[in-house]
Amino acid sequence: MNHQPLIELRDVSKVYPLKAGDVVALDRMSLSIDAGEFLAIMGPSGSGKSTLLNQLGCLDRPTSGDLLIGGRNTREMDDHELTELRLNTIGYIFQKFNLVPLLTAYENVEFPWLMKHRRPDDTGRVESLLSQMGIDTAMATHRPAELSGGQQQRVAIARALVNDPRILLCDEPTGNIDSVTGRQIMEMIKGLNEQGRTVLMVTHDPTVAAYAKRQIVIRDGRLA
Ligand SMILES: Nc1ncnc2c1ncn2[C@@H]1O[C@H](COP(=O)(O)OP(=O)(O)O)[C@@H](O)[C@H]1O
Ligand SMILES: [Mg+2]
Repeated sequence: MNHQPLIELRDVSKVYPLKAGDVVALDRMSLSIDAGEFLAIMGPSGSGKSTLLNQLGCLDRPTSGDLLIGGRNTREMDDHELTELRLNTIGYIFQKFNLVPLLTAYENVEFPWLMKHRRPDDTGRVESLLSQMGIDTAMATHRPAELSGGQQQRVAIARALVNDPRILLCDEPTGNIDSVTGRQIMEMIKGLNEQGRTVLMVTHDPTVAAYAKRQIVIRDGRLA
């Protein structure tokens, strides 16, 4: 049987058309990622790391080239299928947490569950994930602004996991938290990889990248 990567980029370019001229953020990049990998994407600021992660996470469509997930070409998926893929297969963790300010921690974690199941969580999964992340029932009633950066990121991780995704994308997951809390967050992410999830992480920090099993460096939208 042929070996099939979980994620495959083939000659992917991403061009942002700007008045001052086109910005080629990704330049014909090809990359294969196997199920179970923990990949760190490194490179200087502006090199295209977030753009790459956004393509891998189907948050954006490539200008040209192909992105295959589980052997399926995402170019052949319509918006509904891509939404399902984002909801069921991929969890997202961002540098700035991206929690909804008006929702409590609990409601933030429950949000993707509601999007998927169209009813509240009556299985206890939201509470159990929050508790695994060290957020107790009282803290779960707080809004993001009432939580520390580390607590917000742990809520964001619980949210990323609520629909049990195979793939976890992290863009500078420790970028806005202190180094001690950052290490705790990285231990959690490492544990999620050890449980079998594929983790793709953007970072410019070598200590953070060291948690990954494979590191790639990009420069000017190309693999260095
Ligand atoms: N939405 C956008 N519109 C226009 N240019 C963008 C956009 N997003 C990123 N860029 C440009 O694309 C390049 C790569 O950006 P990015 O992927 O954010 O880099 P990194 O995450 O490595 O800092 C940069 O030159 C950046 O200015
Ligand atoms: Mg970035």
